Amino acid sequence: MTHYAMPDRKSWEKEWKEVSGHALVAVNSATSLDGLETLRLEYLGRKGRLTSLLKDLKDFDLGDRRELGGPSNAFKEELSAAIDAKKAELEGAAQDAAIAGTKLDLTLPGLAPAEGRLHPLTLVMREMTGILSRMGFSWAEGPHVETDHYNFESLNFPPNHPARDMQDTFYVDAGSGVPGSILLRPQTSPVQIRRMEAQRPPLRIMAPGRVFRHEAVDASHGAVFHQIEGLYVDKGVTMADLKGTLLVFIQSLFGPKAQMRFRPSFFPFTEPSAEVDMQCILCEGSGCPACKRTGWMEVLGAGMVHPNVFKGVDYDPEVWSGFAFGMGVERIAMLKLGITDLRLFYQNDLRFLEQFK
Ligand code: DAH
Repeated sequence: MTHYAMPDRKSWEKEWKEVSGHALVAVNSATSLDGLETLRLEYLGRKGRLTSLLKDLKDFDLGDRRELGGPSNAFKEELSAAIDAKKAELEGAAQDAAIAGTKLDLTLPGLAPAEGRLHPLTLVMREMTGILSRMGFSWAEGPHVETDHYNFESLNFPPNHPARDMQDTFYVDAGSGVPGSILLRPQTSPVQIRRMEAQRPPLRIMAPGRVFRHEAVDASHGAVFHQIEGLYVDKGVTMADLKGTLLVFIQSLFGPKAQMRFRPSFFPFTEPSAEVDMQCILCEGSGCPACKRTGWMEVLGAGMVHPNVFKGVDYDPEVWSGFAFGMGVERIAMLKLGITDLRLFYQNDLRFLEQFK
């Protein structure tokens, strides 16, 4: 701001004329907030032209001060007001422009929320329990942390009997065969006992749930997996009922062409006992790598409830008979969904999980 330097009246008046003649016009025609701020600094800043004029009045005599001070101070007020008004106007315009720029575009596609779905094991488990439920089996559950009594003794495993090692049990305390010891259930069979203790026969239950085994994990074994237990007790129940029930179950799950066979086996709580194989659904019995070229795949264990088990829960084995079965949910889900590695169920990889509905 190179303006007048001498505070003499003549040069003061010359500068005053310029300032009062131009400042308002310039302010009123400002087109941007930046430009307006430049003008404010030019005239009203600490060293601004009008500020300097007012400051220099102090060097004039009283008469001049009065004469010149009135209008120049009034002009300062007027100019400040004009700058404020212009500022408000330019800010309003800037805001309008910003709003106009972010106008809602109703033609944009919406944000699709990720769709959740049930876990494949849940889907298969529901299908299995759905079939059993339509056959009259009602839902039963038991604790994951069990006692030696429910898991072994009452299921007719004598203390120190080698059959206790058929399942690699996780012990919470003492260990195998110690009376009263606590364990993570390696099978859903103890739920049979808990239900029979709670209910007089006849009864028909299914007990789905998680089981635990001290086992090395690989493509076909997990340390944590699921079973569904079945138990049917009534008068005159035979092995034929067991076979018929399981055949209907397997054909409902895998289609009418599904075949099964019984192989003699041993479980302490059933007599006779059987392991049940299903004809390989991949090769339909002709032999492939999945069924180790046998044409068959083991899917469950079953048998007729042992009289000792009935005696333990105060059911008279001369009056009542029954069958029981237990199957691995993961194994059946793998067959049903065509999965060759059980660990996929537990890795929570969305690319895997999203395939099932
Ligand atoms: N609890 C057995 C297991 O985990 C499976 C089983 C076999 C259950 C025979 C039964 C049964 O109810 O009768 O290996």
